[in-house]
Amino acid sequence: MIEIKALNKSFGDNGVLKGLDLSAPEGKITVVIGPSGSGKTVLLRHIIGLLKPDSGKVIVDGTDISGLDQNMLTQFRRRFGMLFQNAALFDSMNVYENVAFPIIEGSRGGRLPDVHAIVSDKLRLVGLSGVENKMPSELSGGMRKRVGLARAIALKPSIMLYDEPTTGLDPVMTLAIDNLILSMQQELGVTSVVISHDIDSAFRIADQIAMIHDGRIVASGSPAEFGRSKNPEVIDFLSAGGRKMS
Ligand SMILES: Nc1ncnc2c1ncn2[C@@H]1O[C@H](COP(=O)(O)OP(=O)(O)OP(=O)(O)O)[C@@H](O)[C@H]1O
Ligand SMILES: [Mg+2]
Repeated sequence: MIEIKALNKSFGDNGVLKGLDLSAPEGKITVVIGPSGSGKTVLLRHIIGLLKPDSGKVIVDGTDISGLDQNMLTQFRRRFGMLFQNAALFDSMNVYENVAFPIIEGSRGGRLPDVHAIVSDKLRLVGLSGVENKMPSELSGGMRKRVGLARAIALKPSIMLYDEPTTGLDPVMTLAIDNLILSMQQELGVTSVVISHDIDSAFRIADQIAMIHDGRIVASGSPAEFGRSKNPEVIDFLSAGGRKMS
């Protein structure tokens, strides 16, 4: 479903992605881990077409999206839900308006669905019922992140991209968000790419874990395979995350 081939991206003389290959199978959860600054967010921004590759391919549902013009890209993005690392809420809109925004935009020219019911339902799913009238500045970082998540799932996307969905959340909320990501996959068949620093959470939700290091994927496989990897970067990363190696 998502196929990335020999992706190269530099900013000036800062080479970030250096021939990265990754495939994220349809209906599965692929978790990408790796050190801070290794290019995880840059990778995600390529998948949704917010960045263009210097070279290489980003194929989604059989289409190389790096070749799409702005119009086609806008159409194409409707199948994506993306949770940005910083939540990226509209600061001048309250929570209700933030979550309602893509629903209203997405139904332009067609019949407007019951926006109120959808917003309530999505806020309930992220454990935030009753905050509709609050402004983003009145929320904690974790709450903002969950509003961003409610907004991302509002249009029933077939592909979900999550940039560190549980960073900054308490353990109970982390588990709730993990379960939400799992239920999006199990009940709706959503294809997911999740960037995470949280090793335990990665092992809990992943069908496939891939580690990015020095601009490439250095190891990938099922959680069990990944846990047995002999790659030194993987071993360092997992042991720093408190996971015992088998
Ligand atoms: N728009 C941009 N312009 C210039 N450099 C950028 C841009 N976006 C990212 N970079 C650079 O690309 C590198 C990778 O950044 P990225 O945000 O992908 O890291 P990350 O793996 O997501 O890190 P973290 O875990 O801290 O979120 C960094 O060196 C960053 O400075
Ligand atoms: Mg990042």
